[in-house]
Amino acid sequence: MPLLVLFAAPSADWPEWETPLRAAFDAAGLDVRLVVEADPAAVDYVIYAPPGTVSDFAPFTRAKAVLSLWAGVERIVGNATLTQPLCRMVDPGMTGHMVSYVVGHVLRHHLGLDRHLKRSAPVWDQTPPPHPSDRTVAVLGLGELGGACAAAIAALGFPVTGWARTAKALPFPTDHGEDGLRRVLGAAEIVVTLLPRTAETENLLDARRLGWMRKGAVIINPGRGALIDEAALLAALDAGHLGHATLDVFRTEPLPPDHPFWTHPRATVTPHIAANTHPPTASGVIAENIRRGEAGERFLYLVDRAQQY
Ligand code: NAP
Ligand code: GLV
Repeated sequence: MPLLVLFAAPSADWPEWETPLRAAFDAAGLDVRLVVEADPAAVDYVIYAPPGTVSDFAPFTRAKAVLSLWAGVERIVGNATLTQPLCRMVDPGMTGHMVSYVVGHVLRHHLGLDRHLKRSAPVWDQTPPPHPSDRTVAVLGLGELGGACAAAIAALGFPVTGWARTAKALPFPTDHGEDGLRRVLGAAEIVVTLLPRTAETENLLDARRLGWMRKGAVIINPGRGALIDEAALLAALDAGHLGHATLDVFRTEPLPPDHPFWTHPRATVTPHIAANTHPPTASGVIAENIRRGEAGERFLYLVDRAQQY
């Protein structure tokens, strides 16, 4: 009998996923019936992305796993009805998107591109940007995405420092803990935040910790809006303590039209486009996890419910 796999992501996502998912199941030799509606008690695996078509997972008594199409799982990890294993998305295609977004925005600020793109008079100002080796970039969060971004920035010659929950041995200096955060923030001119939203990371960058950042430093946040205290960030930008904030994610999305970030001269808003999951590569990840489930092997990218990521 074929495995019954329910696509419980928003219906608008179905057209871009149906063909690559079917192709990935075929390539993995899986006999799958992929559907958008089913009797919950008959479903073997649930593919999920927020807001999703399922909010009560209790009737999915047969399901062996819920497979997220998103890396960030904060909208499902606390769901009390979800007792099945939850796997987050780690997708090389998504990582490629994120690396290009982060590198692009780091280079925008490093090169001072705005000065040339928005020139209002013919001023021949030959002030060069500093050499990359003189500009430290901090990356908060050294998981799949933060780790890849940090490596790419380091490969361009920038001194990189990283910060995560646990100690790391990486080819660049890293730190952890509150004192470590203070050191990392105090050393960098550009700070990239690629942390998950959890109880511990909520408002991580509050007024006190933003105050640890260097005067004129830039923050680039493609992680989650809740990592930063919005009012504190606006105050730091208004006061010129921070030079710029490039923000891809927000507490409320879409960002409301009257939100001050839209018009702030020191803020850039991008509409949560840093790193979409890439269906051609991510479908293979979903298929591999179903293959593992059927073979009794450990799932890839299992979410730690206690840590919430
Ligand atoms: P990941 O592999 O789970 O890595 C998370 C990193 O955050 C790890 O290094 C982890 O530390 C660190 N961390 C977690 N809690 C922490 C804490 N309390 N203090 C310090 N460090 C902490 O996640 P990922 O795949 O890199 O994704 C990161 C986030 O990016 C996602 O959760 C999502 O919110 C966001 N995202 C955004 C977009 C977009 O388009 N804007 C796209 C995809 C993902 P350890 O290494 O010590 O565990
Ligand atoms: C997107 O924000 C994701 O978490 O995959």
